[in-house]
Order: sequence, then structure tokens, then C-alpha cells
Amino acid sequence: MAVRTKLVAGNWKMNGLREDGVALARALVHRMVAAGAGGPGCELLVCPPATLLTTVGGLIAGSGIALGGQDCHAAAKGAFTGDISPEMLADVGCTHVILGHSERRHGHGEDDTAVHGKILGAWRAGLTAILCVGETRAQREAGTAVDIVASQLAGSMPSQAEPDNLVVAYEPVWAIGTGLTATLEDIAAMHAAIRTRLPAQTRILYGGSVNPQNAASILGLGEVDGALVGGASLDGESFWTIARNCPSPQPPPRERGEGGPLGASAMRHPTGARTRAPKGAGG
Ligand code: PGA
Repeated sequence: MAVRTKLVAGNWKMNGLREDGVALARALVHRMVAAGAGGPGCELLVCPPATLLTTVGGLIAGSGIALGGQDCHAAAKGAFTGDISPEMLADVGCTHVILGHSERRHGHGEDDTAVHGKILGAWRAGLTAILCVGETRAQREAGTAVDIVASQLAGSMPSQAEPDNLVVAYEPVWAIGTGLTATLEDIAAMHAAIRTRLPAQTRILYGGSVNPQNAASILGLGEVDGALVGGASLDGESFWTIARNCPSPQPPPRERGEGGPLGASAMRHPTGARTRAPKGAGG
């Protein structure tokens, strides 16, 4: 079984003027450069607001930090005022797009069918979709959390999903931006339940009030392949500290040498983030 490199993604949401985006991008690139070839020990992705994609994309190009959008329309182009197409995201250097975030599902009435269409659009443009799922507080208290998440996956995940084109983010709605996090037991149980419904080796991120204090325990769970970070991703030091808490990828025992220490050659390079230079951005 291959090793799943962890992914730590920053969802900046509707935050940041140009000055803020430049400062944050520079802070992260500075840390990447200082960390050297090993990077933080995981893949890094930032998802700024659309107005900052080009600026941030230019600053992080070549650093190993990937760029993503926070949403997109399903269509490639057309009369959809205010929307952004997957092709437009790819055009400015994005490799990923967050889809089905609860703030889109609950704040903008997006249902599973709409999210399904957006994922197909993202794939048409060559983007990796980060599909968000998660239950509300009432649903968890009613004991239906796994059923709700299973139904979101069934309704929004296209059948062509593969580990290379899809990442799932489990984000309990009640944990987003509240400072509350699910217990480690609940996270592990939900991730295990999600995993039975995904193609093998698909990465499952946890999201919801991940911060530098709780990152190590959450990212240390075997079923957790990374984090989707909102508030704490707006501070370079916090986001970097979260990423630094990713345990190094460990191949299964049978892929290690006979009883010896883990050889350097057995370690996957942690910064496998694909970066795509924006068209016309000269490197
Ligand atoms: P939070 O947001 O880390 O601020 O809770 C996470 C998210 O909404 O993706």
C-alpha cells in the first residue's frame, strides 16, 4: 500500500486585502525556503479569496505551496454573473478547489446535486476537488452523523472519483469557526466510516477549529490525512505550526528494511504539491 502524504490546506474564506494576502503568502514562502527540501513534512495548499489568487499564486509559484479556489461554477463559461469557472481557476494557477463547504451548502443553498456538478466541472479543468462533508450539531446529537455524511458522499461524489482527483474533508458544521473540535474518537470513527465509501488511498482531511494546539493529536490519527484550516490559516506562524505537526509518512512495516532504521530512500518527499504557474506569469 502506498503512503498517503498528508495535506494541510488553508481556507482563507472572505478574508484579506491585497496587502494581507501578500504578507501571508510571503510569510509562508519564507518558511518553506528556510525549511529546505523537507518542507514542513506535508503538502501545503492555500485557498485565498478569488481577488487574491493571481497575487498569491505569483508569490508562491515554485515554492512547493499549491494554490486552490474556494468554490467554482460547474460550467466552463457563460452568463453566470458573479461566478468563477473551474477553467478560470486553473488559468490563474490553481490545482485544487474546495467544493461543498458547509458555508456554501447552508449559506448559499447548495445541495449534493449542485456539488456533484461542480466536481465534474473541476475535473474537466484538471483540478483536484476537495469535497467537504459534515453533520450539524442537531444531526450529531440525533445520532445520524454517519448517515448524513454517507448521504452527502453518495449524492455529491461522482463515480469517477480517484485519489488523484478527489480529497474529502470531514468538517462537522458545529466545529467550524467555533473553537469546538470533535473528539479524537469521533474523528477516527467518522474517517473510518468515510473511508469505506471512497476509492482506496483517497485522502480524508479533518476540518473544524484546527489550531496549533490540537493539530498534533488530530494529525496523528492514522485515518486523518491532513487538515482543512480556516481561522488559523490566516496567521503564517499558526498555519506553519499546524503543518509542522504532521507526522512523517511511515510506510507499512513490510515496506521497510528488515528490522533496520527507516532508510531515507523509503521516505516519500513530503512536498509533492503540484504547482501550476499561472499562464503568462513567467515562472
Ligand atoms: P475553521 O474553519 O478552522 O475556522 O473552523 C475550517 C473550515 O471552514 O474549513
